[in-house]
Amino acid sequence: MKDIIILGIETSCDETSAAVVANGREVLSNIIASQVNLHAEYGGVVPEIASRKHVELILPVIDSALKEAGIVLKDVDAVAVTYGPGLVGALLVGVTAAKAIAAALDKPLIKVHHIEGHIAANYISHPDLEPPYISLVASGGHSHIIHVKDYLDFEVLGMTRDDAAGEVFDKIARVLGLGYPGGPVIDKQAKLGNPKAIHFPRVNFTDGSHDFSFSGLKTAVINYVNTARQKGEELNIPDICASFQQAVVDVLVGHTLKAAANLNVKKIVLAGGVASNSLLRETLQRRAKETGMDALFPAPILCTDNAAMIAAAGYYSFLKGEFADLTLNAVPYLAIGEGHK
Ligand code: KG4
Ligand code: ZN
Repeated sequence: MKDIIILGIETSCDETSAAVVANGREVLSNIIASQVNLHAEYGGVVPEIASRKHVELILPVIDSALKEAGIVLKDVDAVAVTYGPGLVGALLVGVTAAKAIAAALDKPLIKVHHIEGHIAANYISHPDLEPPYISLVASGGHSHIIHVKDYLDFEVLGMTRDDAAGEVFDKIARVLGLGYPGGPVIDKQAKLGNPKAIHFPRVNFTDGSHDFSFSGLKTAVINYVNTARQKGEELNIPDICASFQQAVVDVLVGHTLKAAANLNVKKIVLAGGVASNSLLRETLQRRAKETGMDALFPAPILCTDNAAMIAAAGYYSFLKGEFADLTLNAVPYLAIGEGHK
């Protein structure tokens, strides 16, 4: 059978990425131009800078992806693009490029939900993975527990009621003067500290929901830091990072295992930028094993925003003939699964 070659495009936040993926699982190229250094001095992503940089980078990045894959545009069977959620100006750059290519080549256009893309990163890292499974998606903008019933059938079981997990990592790092993005540096510092040194709160709702809340934890850490500074006490950065990270991981893992147990699903799949966190990976794997479940996660390069995951997700829409037309627009707020209704 002929290979299905999908060109993926991702520009929802501060990564400009294009990738070529064969049959949904084999990455022929995955070019990621990160703007992280441009945004670092502001302590977070500046939407206007992101949009302008995407405009500059999108065509060279697509060219590189085709070149590295050893193909030309006419070899592509379809173009898959992130159309939401994300920063509207950033999304528009990718959507416009994808529409132009699809129209010029007369090839199908596939719209992909960013979070469904993060989940699909696991199909690349685990070629045998098939639904159903439970996915924990934790990124800078999202913290969701999702029942993936089939490739295009998603049910959200829980989500954050306030801040996303990655957002809190970034905020705490900023307060501690550790730079942006916060996740990787806190992960590193935490390895040198004692996770039991400071008790930070863990929120579990009593209404039976699997929702998260991280804003209380964020405030508790900030208050701890401010109080210590006011008293002139020296901060033990590794202990603060380790204790904070432990609190986030306890909640993420606890809620996910509970959701899986409730539905009697034995497979848990991690996704999103925070899925790179070493404690989260170790803890989820260990605790899943204790309860007879399997925990999987993508290779670190596929946890951050990238276009290979978008092409991987788009493959299942391709198989179903679920195509978008040239009226496709960027949708900054978009529910998971909505695009398949
Ligand atoms: O998925 P992603 O690349 O972009 C969004 O869609 O948001 O996620 C970025 C987030 C940032 O908040 C970053 O601090 C966090 O993922 N992150 C981590 C780690 N690496 C990245 N958080 C915790 N531990 C890490 N090792
Ligand atoms: Zn993302």
